[in-house]
Amino acid sequence: MEKWLGVSGVVLILVLGWTVWDASQEEWEHYQQIYYREAVRLAQKRAQMEWATHLRTEIRQLQLNGQTIVERCVTCHLGYDNPAFQDFVAPLRTHSAILKSHSEERFGCVVCHGGEGRAVSTLEAHGQGEITAKPMLKGKYMQAACYNCHGLKTLPPQATASVVHGRQLVNQYLCLGCHKIDGEGGEEGPDLSTVGSHRTWLWIYAHTARPQGVVSGSTMPVFSLGRDEIQDITIYLMTLLDGRDRVRYLPLLAKRVVREPPADPPSASRRRDDPESRAVASQIAYHYDGKKLFQGAGCSLCHTIDIRGGEVGPALTYIGRKRNAENLERLLKNPEDILPGGKMPQLYLNDLQIKELARYLSMRQ
Ligand code: HEC
Ligand code: HEC
Ligand code: HEC
Ligand code: HEC
Ligand code: HEC
Repeated sequence: MEKWLGVSGVVLILVLGWTVWDASQEEWEHYQQIYYREAVRLAQKRAQMEWATHLRTEIRQLQLNGQTIVERCVTCHLGYDNPAFQDFVAPLRTHSAILKSHSEERFGCVVCHGGEGRAVSTLEAHGQGEITAKPMLKGKYMQAACYNCHGLKTLPPQATASVVHGRQLVNQYLCLGCHKIDGEGGEEGPDLSTVGSHRTWLWIYAHTARPQGVVSGSTMPVFSLGRDEIQDITIYLMTLLDGRDRVRYLPLLAKRVVREPPADPPSASRRRDDPESRAVASQIAYHYDGKKLFQGAGCSLCHTIDIRGGEVGPALTYIGRKRNAENLERLLKNPEDILPGGKMPQLYLNDLQIKELARYLSMRQ
């Protein structure tokens, strides 16, 4: 009997393992198949056709820093360097012109975007899996990455405005009364000189909004900060890195003085609203699960549902009684619109994510 239990256990594990493996395989293979098919269709010259018909379905990776860092974002983001894919949707879409001055062979993707470079499933790679190890930097939070290489001098002021404002706020609210940064400051709280390497931006945001909601029994005061102030403090703190992370940026430090941000290349002839493009877009679309995303996108860091979650924001167990899907979509698109002056962060979620989250929450009755 025991023996059979053991055997069926092994079989179960194998079946489960295979299912998980199979599901993640299919995901990136699916994007590659569409990419290859479209590349053949869009080929204008013979050489392009030759190239497109010889593409193989395989994990693709960039090896950086003398091969020590592996990033697999390009396994799915296949069109990043192909101008024919300008009017597609992510992950096949051509990257903006910024890669012309920051070639992916040298820089990879993670220095600017964050995320989990080795992963080959969408949620994991974007830091939205069950364990949010490294959530991607989005929207204004990307300024921290730009600043880490460029400092303040080589970029136009608007590209690092949040970093500058965040540092001003840290002075204004006398955070150094209790914290040290680079040797200066008080000792009541932990040294913050390397906090950007040890915490994610989501964690820092949540902690700044309400320390006790994240660290139970914390004696750090709750400051009456608005959404943008918490955001900018967070962005500034994300630029405080340890030696290991600084070394990652070091060989790439930008020297040349920069005046203008890069312009996007002119748009190709195909439009995203033409029927053919729309048909392809719907094949590419990722299917989010609202419940999983609630954990993965960081909502559960600040909100409880049933008994699980953090206590920075209100519990959302019965939020569907208070807000319908449409109201929730507006709230998630732009929290300032529905909760003016509040602390709920702008998370820069995309429309697909917002739709699924709103659907999931509106059913919490
Ligand atoms: C398994 C395939 C896959 C991998 C690997 C992957 N991505 Fe994506 N990525 C996608 C898909 C699919 C989308 C479009 C999802 C959507 O529209 O919600 C996307 C969208 C994005 C977006 C736009 C996000 C938004 O909210 O609009 C960024 C930025 C991005 N990916 C960066 C990265 C980076 C950086 C990596 C590597 C760390 C990476 N991706 C790895 C599949 C992948
Ligand atoms: C030098 C920094 C930098 C690097 C390196 C970089 N990106 Fe980006 N990426 C950006 C910025 C900034 C944006 C926002 C659009 C813009 O202003 O260019 C962006 C936008 C995107 C988007 C969203 C595009 C959309 O349609 O909304 C995706 C997807 C993406 N990047 C993927 C990647 C992948 C994959 C790599 C690696 C091959 C990469 N990026 C490397 C800075 C970078
Ligand atoms: C890993 C380090 C690194 C990061 C991160 C980085 N850059 Fe750069 N950037 C450089 C280097 C190095 C150059 C100079 C390239 C050259 O000399 O051609 C550069 C050049 C530029 C230029 C000038 C391009 C040109 O065509 O003259 C702009 C604009 C720029 N970066 C903006 C950004 C922005 C915006 C971000 C954040 C999204 C960013 N960079 C992130 C290292 C970095
Ligand atoms: C009265 C003293 C005090 C002041 C003022 C204060 N803090 Fe704190 N802070 C603490 C204490 C104590 C902790 C440790 C408990 C905790 O993590 O909440 C802490 C923890 C932190 C942490 C977590 C560090 C880590 O990695 O665990 C961050 C980030 C932080 N503070 C940022 C700030 C910022 C930003 C300000 C100014 C807006 C500030 N603090 C003002 C006392 C203070
Ligand atoms: C950093 C903490 C934080 C994160 C992360 C966060 N929220 Fe919030 N949220 C708040 C706070 C604080 C409020 C209270 C209103 C305010 O201050 O703006 C709030 C309010 C809300 C409300 C309105 C509640 C009510 O009773 O009317 C909803 C709905 C909501 N959040 C959903 C989400 C979802 C979904 C996510 C994930 C995509 C999320 N939140 C992520 C902090 C957070």
